[in-house]
Amino acid sequence: MNDLHEIASLLVAHGKGLLAADESVHSADKRLTANGIEPSEEMRRKYRDLFLSTPGIEKYLSGIILFEETLLQKADNGTLFPQLLTQHNILPIIKVDQGVEPLPESPDETITSGLIGLPERLAKYRECGARSTKWRAVIRIDGDRFPTSQAIAENAKRLASYAYMVQEAGMVPILEPEVLLEGNHSRLRAQAVIEETLRAVYTAVDDQSVDRKALILKTSMALSGSESGKTDTPQEVAESTMKALLATVPRDVPGIVFLSGGQAADQATDNLRAITQLAHTEKAPWPLTFSYARALQGEALALWKGSEDNVSSARAAFLSRLQKVSDAASI
Ligand code: 13P
Repeated sequence: MNDLHEIASLLVAHGKGLLAADESVHSADKRLTANGIEPSEEMRRKYRDLFLSTPGIEKYLSGIILFEETLLQKADNGTLFPQLLTQHNILPIIKVDQGVEPLPESPDETITSGLIGLPERLAKYRECGARSTKWRAVIRIDGDRFPTSQAIAENAKRLASYAYMVQEAGMVPILEPEVLLEGNHSRLRAQAVIEETLRAVYTAVDDQSVDRKALILKTSMALSGSESGKTDTPQEVAESTMKALLATVPRDVPGIVFLSGGQAADQATDNLRAITQLAHTEKAPWPLTFSYARALQGEALALWKGSEDNVSSARAAFLSRLQKVSDAASI
């Protein structure tokens, strides 16, 4: 086993998962504003500190995904955030894509940018302590119109190019082709799109000589669209999600993590539990765990309101959710 294989298995260690604390400046500001908090660089630092400095999180988290701004910011105790995580045995991961732009052939869909100059940025991130990275592609469903095959193919190609560069730089890539929950599609349509997307991603990964044993897949669960008026049972979500994964993900991939995608915290927890139970029954070959942003941070953010007085109750809510989610992943 080389270093990258070892880091990949640490990321999906039993009972642990990832916190995605890597909202861009724009998304972090939107979340702060939605909770009545005036956004600023210092407020974003405090927002990160609320989660990253919560005592005891290392019991549940193997890694935390950071946005570039956070790499150079310090926790309240004066320690740089990546060092703080390393001191607590939590791997610092960095989001390295630079967001999405319209796909020229189909401008209502997107491709992810950030490959130009990536090797230089990767060298810098590794020096800051990062040992793993994330790249998010966005796949939109709209009836039979979207996704187009070009959107899937171009995003898959870029994910594989990114993965190759990251492994060359000595870090473990996390590949996140997010199939959006937004839309009025059915669960079966989501399942089919996840399958088509993952098939394209692994074909591109093999074409570009990426080491499949040294990457982590971050995927959506297969759910009915958020505007479909349908709420699936955890059993339905587990069945569709496992079918999509078993049909497409090679056996030698070291681990799969799920995004929450806008599901409520309890829903993301219950669905993860049903998926891990079914994976256990079906003897799935990979460890499965969580890599949530909203489902882990939402409750604490609502309690915090940007005030020092609420830090301890917000951290208690965060820890309680972490415990539930980690328990759901620990079948
Ligand atoms: P959510 O869990 O809020 O979907 O975020 C996960 C993520 O990393 C999005 O890029």
